[in-house]
This record gives sequence, C-alpha cells and structure tokens, in this order.
Amino acid sequence: MDNIFEKEKKYFLPTYNRIPIDLSHGKGVYLFAKNGDKYLDFFSGLGVNALGYAHPAIVEAVTKQITLFGHLSNNYITDIQVEFAELLLKHSQMDKLFLTNSGTESIEGAIKLIRKKQGREKKIFALTNSFHGRTYGAMSLTARSKYRDGFQPLLPGIEFINFNDVEDLTNKISEDTAGIFVEFIQGEGGINLISQQFADQLKELKNKFDFALVSDCIQCGIGRTGMPFSHNYLNMEPDIITSAKAIGGGLPLGAILTSKEYSNIFDVGKHGTTFGGNSVSCAAGKVVLEEVFEKGLMKKVASNGKYLFNRLLEIQNRLPEKIKEVRGRGYMVGVELSIDSSHFVKEMRERKVLANVTNVNVVRLLPPLIVELEHIDYFVEKFEEVIKLNLK
Ligand SMILES: Cc1ncc(COP(=O)(O)O)c(C=O)c1O
Repeated sequence: MDNIFEKEKKYFLPTYNRIPIDLSHGKGVYLFAKNGDKYLDFFSGLGVNALGYAHPAIVEAVTKQITLFGHLSNNYITDIQVEFAELLLKHSQMDKLFLTNSGTESIEGAIKLIRKKQGREKKIFALTNSFHGRTYGAMSLTARSKYRDGFQPLLPGIEFINFNDVEDLTNKISEDTAGIFVEFIQGEGGINLISQQFADQLKELKNKFDFALVSDCIQCGIGRTGMPFSHNYLNMEPDIITSAKAIGGGLPLGAILTSKEYSNIFDVGKHGTTFGGNSVSCAAGKVVLEEVFEKGLMKKVASNGKYLFNRLLEIQNRLPEKIKEVRGRGYMVGVELSIDSSHFVKEMRERKVLANVTNVNVVRLLPPLIVELEHIDYFVEKFEEVIKLNLK
C-alpha cells in the first residue's frame, strides 16, 4: 500500500512541494505527526491560523453554527454574517463590505470595482515584487515572472511601479490612473515595508488624481503586524482593503472592504459568489476578530513582536556575515540571509520547528498570533543554531 506521499503524487496535480510530515492533528501553536513528533509552527498555515489549531472558542462557534445551517445561498442574509461584518467594519473603519472565499477572489472583486468606477481606459498599477494571487486579474497584478510565465496574455491595462521608488511613482501616476494595489508589507516578496516617504507621496498623488488606493492586507492584516492593518502604521486611508487568510479562523473566507466612495459601485447582479460569506466561516471569523481586536491579542502581538525582532537583531549582531537584514512588524518578520538558505527549512524541521523561506533567501516568520515569549525563545534558539551551521 502506498503511503500518503506516494498517493499524493498519483492523484494530485504536481503544484506543491509537500512537507514530508504525516500529520495527525494540531493543538494551539503545535502540529503533531502520527509518529508522535511535535512541531512548533512558526508559519501558521501561511498566516491563516491566527488563533493556532483547535482553538476552543472556534470549535464551539463552528459546531454551533453547523448545527443550525452551514451553507445558505447569498439569497439570504443571516445573523452571523451581520455580526461578523459589524466587527470587521468597526476595526477597519471602512463603510461596507463584500464577503468572498479567498484572497485572490477579493482582489478580483477589487479590480472590478475600480474598472467600473474609474472607467476601462485608465491604468491600474501594482508594485514590483508584489504578490496578489493566482487568478487572472490577481496574477496580472503580481509582478514576479515566476508566477506569470506561461500564462500570458494577462489582463491588459496593468503596469508596475518600482517598490518604494518615489520618483517612479511620481512619473507614472497621472490623471490616467484608475488605481494602485499595494501590500504595505509585502509577504511573498520577502517582508518588504513601504516607506513613509513613498506612502506620503502616494497620499499626495491620490489627493491630486483621485485614483483608487487598494491596500492588500490579505497577509498583513487582522492584527498580524500589531495594528489592525499594515497601512495603519503609515496613516493611509485606502479606498479598498482586500482581506482573507486569518479572517476566517482557518476556514475559507475573504472580504473586500470599501470606503464610502466605493460602496455603491456594484448594484444588484453586478457581483456575486456562491460560497463567499459562508456562515460557518463567519462564525469562526467572528471569534478571530473578537480575540484579536477586542480581547487584547493584537496589543500582545505588538509588544511580543518587538521582543522577537530584538532577539533576531541580537543574532544578527553576533552573526553579521550570515544575516543581511531583519525587517517586519509584529508577527510578520523577515530575516534576509546572506548564506544559502536552501536547507534552512529542513534543518529547522529536524529541530521540530516549522518555518518558511520566501523570495530565495528571506526566512519568513508568520507564527500564530497566540505564540508566547517561551515559544519565541525556543524558535530563536533553534534559529541561531541552524544559522550557525554551514548551510549548503
Ligand atoms: C498579499 C496577498 N494577496 C493575495 C493573496 C492570495 O490569496 P489566496 O491564496 O487566498 O487566493 C496572498 C496569498 O498568499 C497574499 O499574500
């Protein structure tokens, strides 16, 4: 009988490099393998599992909701969707929302909103190194060729501005600009932070030309950075926020959040989704929003995040030839290595820590928001141990 990894190769399209751990379950910040191994998870399902695994309040909320109903079509509106929406709008300070299933679907809806309001002739911009998703519109906004090659022709009318390049921004934005998509902290691109200078210029140009500013907070939202959304650090007021990942507590859920100006662009029938806003996902998501925003978890992320950052800086000071830069906010941190990182993830796994490397050599930390100082200490200890190896 084949094991699951052999079966995976047999049954699934070969789109993923699966991590070779045969998992049984997760609890809190740990994942457990069938052989009893216990792993500290510093990647949280690609930034999704903000409250870790099997959080009791999520289990309770989901169980309660599924006994009432799971799926209803969007021909209905339900209490749980409204309760979720109220919390999300309150903490994002946006006017209205549309619920989706995923990040890429939120991006697609945002493109439609911009095209409809601003007209089809104007250009939409994104930044170099961006990642916005895998469907056609989102992929067209995704700069790196790794994600685009082989799929052209992409959506027309999309161009790129060099990341944090104020001059390029100023040269390209004009009255012919419909909108710009920005990850105020880039995730896949290697934890790159938009500078205050770039943000200030963006604000000024927006006041002049009235294009749509979209903050893609799919990875850097919902308290991960120690603020509700990453643009809050730069005092930006986007017209549209795209959200997903952590928002559903591990269930598929996303959102397009709009300012007043973008709240009445779609009328009935102009946009829709079968599963978006699923009631069970909203029940789980409501727990996340309560824990993160109302019960103090985000504040803890902000202070513990500083501790994590400083511990990593200490390692950089000890090993400057191995670490080029530490950057990030809260629990979204990147450590750019000057050494070959190809065996880093495996070495960490052998020490029972799950970590990730993105954009070639940036160790990307996206732990569950519930990690405590003791988990950070454990991670940092193993991290230094591995960095000291002559990774090949
Ligand atoms: C910033 C950003 N935008 C969009 C997406 C796409 O989200 P999804 O994978 O849910 O479609 C991602 C996923 O990693 C992301 O990090």
